[in-house]
Amino acid sequence: MLPQGYTIRELTASDAPALAASYVRNRAHLEPWEPTRDESFFTYDGQVAAVSAQLAAVRAGMLGAWVIVHGDDVVGRVNLNNIVLGVLRSGSLGYWVDGEHLGRGLASAGVEHVCEQALARGLHRVEAGTLLDNHASQRVLERCGFEQYGVASRFLFIAGAWRDHRLYQRILHDRPLSAST
Ligand SMILES: CC(C)(COP(=O)(O)OP(=O)(O)OC[C@H]1O[C@@H](n2cnc3c(N)ncnc32)[C@H](O)[C@@H]1OP(=O)(O)O)[C@@H](O)C(=O)NCCC(=O)NCCS
Repeated sequence: MLPQGYTIRELTASDAPALAASYVRNRAHLEPWEPTRDESFFTYDGQVAAVSAQLAAVRAGMLGAWVIVHGDDVVGRVNLNNIVLGVLRSGSLGYWVDGEHLGRGLASAGVEHVCEQALARGLHRVEAGTLLDNHASQRVLERCGFEQYGVASRFLFIAGAWRDHRLYQRILHDRPLSAST
């Protein structure tokens, strides 16, 4: 559960200005853990374009996108990327929390919320990958019932290089799929 004063809700087009401000505030905090961003990413126009593309992916059923809000500020995000149905029925978590709002359980509450949403959407599994030394993120996943199932070499292009990642998953249920799936 989120602490008092914080809410989580789905991303909307009107979040672009608050997101641009948040990415500017958190540029140094997020840089070691994120893909390399070009300068436009930190602008209002860049966020309008990014949010528009993300909302198109949401409409296509390939992405779930949520923001954690405190007053008028976006202070965190949780995404469920690369949603796949069929016999896999899985999605891949991505998340961050504003550097001024760490250690309050926001990431854990956000991940828990997204797992509930994934279950409600009929997914079977949520996965996540962390850099080997991202101990805070690993702790979030462990708190939320994820188990590590491997280490992948040169898995994602993060902070300018292909980097090894610890892979985690949480199985959401064990109900069989219907024959028509
Ligand atoms: C990882 C991140 C999302 C955690 O956000 P948060 O809201 O502070 O997380 P929570 O408060 O829910 O939980 C943090 C847990 O990590 C622990 N933690 C924090 N820093 C830690 C560290 N350096 N080493 C080990 N554990 C750490 C906290 O003690 C807490 O665990 P506890 O409740 O058992 O004590 C945040 O640090 C962040 O945005 N990092 C940069 C982006 C990022 O790494 N995203 C994830 C990519 S996989």
